[in-house]
Amino acid sequence: MLTLDFTNCLATHVGSHGLDPDLLAPGSEVHNAIAAATKRLAGSRGKGWERWRELPFEPMRSQHVSAVTTIAEQCRGRFDTMVVLGIGGSALGNIALQSALNPPTWNLSDSVRKGAPRLFVVDNVDPAYFASVLDFCQQSTGNSGGLSRTLFNVISKSGETAETAAQFMVIRDLLSRTLGKDYAQNIVAVTDPAKGTMRQICEREGFTTLPVPDGVGGRFSVLSPVGLFSAAMCGIDSDALLTGAADMDKACGNPDLQHNPAAMLAALLVELGTSKGKTNHVLMPYSNALYLLADWYRQLWAESLGKEHDLQGNRVFAGFTPIKALGTTDQHSQVQLYREGPNDKVIGLMEVGQFDHDVTIPTGLNVEAIGYLEGKKMSALLNAEKRATEYALLESQRPNFTLKFPRIDAYHVGQFINLWQIATAYAGLLLNVDAYDQPAVELGKQATCGLMGRKGYEKHLSSVDEALGGDRRVI
Ligand code: PA5
Repeated sequence: MLTLDFTNCLATHVGSHGLDPDLLAPGSEVHNAIAAATKRLAGSRGKGWERWRELPFEPMRSQHVSAVTTIAEQCRGRFDTMVVLGIGGSALGNIALQSALNPPTWNLSDSVRKGAPRLFVVDNVDPAYFASVLDFCQQSTGNSGGLSRTLFNVISKSGETAETAAQFMVIRDLLSRTLGKDYAQNIVAVTDPAKGTMRQICEREGFTTLPVPDGVGGRFSVLSPVGLFSAAMCGIDSDALLTGAADMDKACGNPDLQHNPAAMLAALLVELGTSKGKTNHVLMPYSNALYLLADWYRQLWAESLGKEHDLQGNRVFAGFTPIKALGTTDQHSQVQLYREGPNDKVIGLMEVGQFDHDVTIPTGLNVEAIGYLEGKKMSALLNAEKRATEYALLESQRPNFTLKFPRIDAYHVGQFINLWQIATAYAGLLLNVDAYDQPAVELGKQATCGLMGRKGYEKHLSSVDEALGGDRRVI
């Protein structure tokens, strides 16, 4: 199991910057609040926006794994390259799974991929970036055939997200001009099973589809076909991911805070944030593979908890700023700030027990200043640096915790994902906010529609012009 060591969040270790252990003990206010939240979550799981809790369990689990596997098998051998088109919750999980569970050389080496496709996840409308990926697909070598051997996986629950819609319109046009009437065979769409713009398009054009299940919001969807399809195409074990998530779910059903890792994570971060001013929450994996899981976490923590209003409509401006960092790289960049700058952070370190590949630093250079490295494993250096940073943070009374992966595999990544998803559900209850909406994202979307000339959005255009017009100060 993944473990959470939170000793360094306590006042015993970081003085007044940490939490009094009694605050978390049975009978305390926090302990009681968690017990009540556990009960509420047990009652709401599988309903409304909490259907994501059931993704690792039957019957959803087998339905999704079997649908994803069937389509992945049909696609096997037909495509050299796969391009995911999506944004936010419809892309970050795909990127995180691929970078955590496949080697960084995946797109560069046929022998690494063993017949699976290269994977690009294009989660932006930067034209230069998009055009260069499309150029590559058109000219790609492999078994030749360029575009005909490229699979586009369009992921959009709504189908109306401007970025994904624009990308989709470009590839649809390109594919139909290049491949003719059979172009739909190069698209697999993941969208709402019953409604929405993308569903209508899929039905009209005859695309193969997979569902974004009802009641599963974007940022809680990585363990649905949203994340599982590209993972399966790239050889990632969906079953192991879901088993890891299910095991974490079981561990997080315990009403005793001391035995419930997600509840403890939420309680620590919410308490440190609200009563100790630690409103910046850093996640710093000591592993390149795990780095982009921190990007996925950033969306989950920011979009779920950053809310102007509480559930009663009071203005509370809740939320914390999630930050990603990489160990050891950011020891030479961010750690100066983390130790000597404002004491307003909780730093989550991530450690790996056993790396699948290790490197031994050779002996024989015989230079005194660096001789201590001779014969040592690189993993030992990495983990020593993690421990040294933990110690250094403690010396500066900076609260920190460690999430330890025994090893990096689909099972433990599934655990990590569900740990944070469940912690987010707890944190939403502790902060008394709706963790499942994102009302503040809407205004920018509507303004974009106004600026891009969508009918019915004219008033947004004039509001933008009024707010950003007039006398500008530019040098
Ligand atoms: O978490 C969310 O709900 C968002 O990040 C969405 O995933 C994102 O806006 C994309 O939406 P859609 O899948 O409808 O295109």
